[in-house]
Amino acid sequence: MALVGCGSALPSLSLSNDQLSHRVETNDAWIRSRTGIAARRVAGPGETLTSLATDAGRAALAHAGWQPQDLDLILLATSSPDDLFGTAPRIQAALGANQAVAFDLTAACSGFLFALITAGHYLRCGTMRRVLVIGADQLSRWIDWDDRSTCVLFGDGAAAVALEACPGAEDGLLGFRMHSDGRRAECLTLQQGQERHPLVEGHTAQRGGFQPIQMNGQEVYKFAVREVPAVLEALLKDTGTATSQIDWLLLHQANQRILDAVGTRLGIPADRVLSNLAAYGNTSAATIPLMLDEAVRDGRIAPGHLIATSGFGAGLSWGAALLRWRGPGGSGA
Ligand code: UT7
Repeated sequence: MALVGCGSALPSLSLSNDQLSHRVETNDAWIRSRTGIAARRVAGPGETLTSLATDAGRAALAHAGWQPQDLDLILLATSSPDDLFGTAPRIQAALGANQAVAFDLTAACSGFLFALITAGHYLRCGTMRRVLVIGADQLSRWIDWDDRSTCVLFGDGAAAVALEACPGAEDGLLGFRMHSDGRRAECLTLQQGQERHPLVEGHTAQRGGFQPIQMNGQEVYKFAVREVPAVLEALLKDTGTATSQIDWLLLHQANQRILDAVGTRLGIPADRVLSNLAAYGNTSAATIPLMLDEAVRDGRIAPGHLIATSGFGAGLSWGAALLRWRGPGGSGA
C-alpha cells in the first residue's frame, strides 16, 4: 500500500487550561508540566463525529486528488461513534462514496494504527484499490467534566489518510506489530452502566448507557513508557532498520512526558519526535493522522520519509508500524 493523501477537521471551540481551571480545581502550570497540553478542541452544536470525520475524509480525498466514487473502503477508527450500529456508512453517504463499503473499527487510542494495518491487508491482497482510513473521536461527550484527573487530557478531532494499492512498488507499510492485553482493561474504561429496568414479572433488562471515562493514570503511564519503546525496538529489529534511518517518530499524542521518554529511550533526537499535544490534547484515534496531516502540510514530512509510529491506550492495546510517506501523485522514495 502507498500513503498518498491526508486531511483533518477540528471543532472550532478551543478550550484553554485557564478556562478549565474555572470549572475544576486545576491550573495551567500543573497541566502543562504534567502533560504538555495547553488547550483542546470541544465539539459544539452542529459539530458531530460524523461531520468532523466527513470533513477530514473530504480533505484527504482532495489532497490525494481522488473522487469519492473512487473509494473501495472507508474504515472509521473510533470509540465514540454517533451510532453504535456503525457511523462509517453515514460518512460514506455524506461523501457520496457510493461504490465503497464502510464500517467501524474500535481499538481506542490504537484504533487508527490497527485500522491502517487492516486496510493495508485489503490493499495488498488485491481485493481493494483505494481506501480511506479515518481516525475520529468525540470523547468530550464521555468525559466527567468534574473529574480533573481525566477532563484536562482529552479533546475532539478527526483526521484521515488515503491509501492506495501499489503492486510491484515498495509497500509503504514496511512492518508492523499489534498487541492487546484485556487482563489490564480496567486501567482505562468507557463502559456500560449497570442500570436495569423492569421488563416483565420477575425480569429486568439492562438499560443502555455508558459511564464516563475512568482511568488509572499512573498505571497507563507506566504501561506506555514500558511497552511503546519495546514494541518499536522489536519492529526496528524485525525490519532491520537503524534509528538513524527514521525521519520522524510519530507517537499517539497522550502526554509530552511519554513522547520525551520514548524518544530518549530510542535515541531519537527531540526535533524528530512530532508533537502537537499542546494545541489539541489527546484526541484518541485521531492523534496520529492529525499529527501526520499537520506535518505533511507544513512540509516537515516529505515524500519518501520514513516514519516510525506507535499507538497505545485502552484495551489495553498497543502496536507500532514503520511507514513510508509517498504523498499525492508521486512515487516517493
Ligand atoms: O491515550 C492513552 C491514555 N492515557 C494516558 O496515556 C495517560 C497516562 N497517564 C498520564 O499521562 C499521567 O498519569 C497523568 C497526566 C494522567 C497524571 O499525571 P501524574 O504525574 O501521574 O499525576 P498523579 O495522578 O500522580 O497525581 C499527582 C497529584 C495528585 O495530588 P496528590 O495526591 O499528590 O496531592 C493529584 O490529585 O496531582 C493531582 N492532580 C491534579 N492537580 C491539578 C491530578 N490531576 C490534576 C489536575 N490539576 N488536573
